Amino acid sequence: MSEVTIYEVGPRDGLQNEKIPIGTNDKIQFINILSDTGLMFIESGAFVSPKWVPAMADSNTVLSEIVRKNNIMYPVLTPNLKGLEDAIKYNSDTACVFATPSESFSKKNTNCTVKEALYRAQEVTEEAIIKGLKVRGYISTVMFCPYENEIEPIKVAKLAEELIKMGCYEISLGDTIGSGTPIKTKEMIRECIEAVGVEKLAVHFHDTYGQALANILASLDLGIKVIDTSVGGLGGCPYAPGAKGNVATEDVLFMLNGMGITTGVDIEKICNASEYVFEKLGRVPSSRVFNALQSKKKRNI
Ligand code: HMG
Ligand code: MG
Repeated sequence: MSEVTIYEVGPRDGLQNEKIPIGTNDKIQFINILSDTGLMFIESGAFVSPKWVPAMADSNTVLSEIVRKNNIMYPVLTPNLKGLEDAIKYNSDTACVFATPSESFSKKNTNCTVKEALYRAQEVTEEAIIKGLKVRGYISTVMFCPYENEIEPIKVAKLAEELIKMGCYEISLGDTIGSGTPIKTKEMIRECIEAVGVEKLAVHFHDTYGQALANILASLDLGIKVIDTSVGGLGGCPYAPGAKGNVATEDVLFMLNGMGITTGVDIEKICNASEYVFEKLGRVPSSRVFNALQSKKKRNI
């Protein structure tokens, strides 16, 4: 494999769980900085209920005021038709629907059953496609659920198949609580490849147990070419207790660069974006690569 696409989720997954959200203008500036790093996909907000996820309540202003680049997609989460209505109003190019094989997680995250979530996803996908948006499908808790423990790979594959049939162009497989390990990752992905083909799949690892890079390597082995990441390791799901940030963009870039796999994304510019957003949050990025590169820089001075 020579090329991989990095799908940045920092401004959405990364910031959705912050108890004290950064200012709206800071979010806009953060996305504008990211737009200058070589990324082609920057998930920029969520049109979800502000009561459920207060940190995303300003997605309307964010989507209105970012400076968009022609070749970059700025997807948003749209759990229902109300979310899609806002996505259209604020000129989103991609709507993201989400589902899970776990009844308990579905209830906690979206207040509905798995079947109802799929029905909503179908409604949103049909309407979004009519309105000219692309639709990305997320499946959460693809290996373990915080409420139901282990998830059977076949259930994930069946959901992926349904979402693709609805019209999703790609399915992002989310290890929401980050407890998947490489062999389990491969079992789950193999089942999904059989159902929808590898070119329709992306991976989305949270790094709670430090397994994300190993799981990404396992995914690359099976031909996965799209990886969701978050600058500095920002992130977590408000309805998955204990879930830590997504795998850090700079950590993934460092690994891919070392493997000779190109992404078109500039690791130094990504570190600058991390520095910007973490300074606003008042803490240091969890990314090992960010911290290593910073101390190397300091030693050279
Ligand atoms: P509900 O309470 O059942 O909704 O929530 P409802 O239809 O009964 O409406 C209740 C109120 O919410 C009403 O307002 C609606 O207008 C409003 P009120 O009359 O009370 O003032 N409402 C909305 N407002 C704004 N935007 C909307 C919207 N819909 C309803 N779209 C709902 C159901 C799905 C809305 C809610 O559960 C929700 O917003 N859930 C989203 C949770 C979420 O965003 N979780 C994090 C993202 S998923 C994730 O992080 C995982 C992922 O990263 C992959 C992985 O890691 O696994 C993607
Ligand atoms: Mg996530």
